[in-house]
Amino acid sequence: MPLSERYRNLEFKERVERLKREKKAVILAHYYQRPEIQDVADFIGDSLELAKISMNLDCKIIVFCGVYFMAEIAKILNPDKKVLIPHRKAGCILADSIDVEELKKKKEEGYYIVSYVNTCSNVKAISDIICTSRNALKVVESVNHDRILFVPDKNLGAYCRLKTGKNIELWDGYCPVHERVTLESIRKVKERFGDALVVAHPECPEETLKNADFIGSTSQIIGFILESDSDTFIVGTESGIIYTIEKELEKRGKHKKLLTPDPIPICDQMKMITTERLIRSLEEEIYEVVLDPEVAELAKIPIIRMFNL
Ligand code: 13P
Ligand code: SF4
Repeated sequence: MPLSERYRNLEFKERVERLKREKKAVILAHYYQRPEIQDVADFIGDSLELAKISMNLDCKIIVFCGVYFMAEIAKILNPDKKVLIPHRKAGCILADSIDVEELKKKKEEGYYIVSYVNTCSNVKAISDIICTSRNALKVVESVNHDRILFVPDKNLGAYCRLKTGKNIELWDGYCPVHERVTLESIRKVKERFGDALVVAHPECPEETLKNADFIGSTSQIIGFILESDSDTFIVGTESGIIYTIEKELEKRGKHKKLLTPDPIPICDQMKMITTERLIRSLEEEIYEVVLDPEVAELAKIPIIRMFNL
């Protein structure tokens, strides 16, 4: 790294640390965040871990470096804290794909609604239980209802249906980033690295999952790669995670070849959080997540139901 860039990084880190102290703020970051953001985060994790961590923080401000639904959960679970997201438009395309009115009709028809955590608070408020990619199978397994509707990710829903054998109807939603992790995108890389193990996030298409060596949430993928005896992996999820894995490998004095599908999966929404925006967020205390307290109370019920499983 050139000297000027290293200096800029150092300056950025010092400014963030100072602002964190002054404001009594904690930074939570998802694995898909840019390396510079991961480097100043107090905690990095998958959606479930970050939600749980947010409940045990001694701070006044939580700055959520991720997408909007993640910051919303932190607010739902911490109504008395100020929760900030450094870019107000950093929304999850999958989460935004649900029409709440349409979902209300399904609820009235008698469906038991299992909502993936990638949903907005209005959707959570009318859901029966929430799941994340890490615990989706356990959550679906626990449901004793003959009409289950899984929203919004059809790939994760189909995976749960296949694994649990339950009668599940699917919402027609998907993540555009993971939808592009096709068999073809993996085949192109596998051609050159025949011994590579394929790891995939359950938001990937069914065909990709059928051919994967390991399926799991972001944290589970990291754990699998760190523990595995293999040396080469094709990482079937958003590419920000590669930085986290490389850092963890370095700490353990290990090296593994981490390859991305072709084209590289990148979530533009996650990348909206930049160093400049993070500084501005801390300095000006923007953008605050504000929720209707009644909606937040209702949305908390299915989240707590998930925690209690
Ligand atoms: P994880 O809960 O596995 O971190 O996934 C979040 C997400 O948005 C995947 O696209
Ligand atoms: Fe949403 Fe997909 Fe980005 Fe995850 S990768 S935050 S599901 S758009």
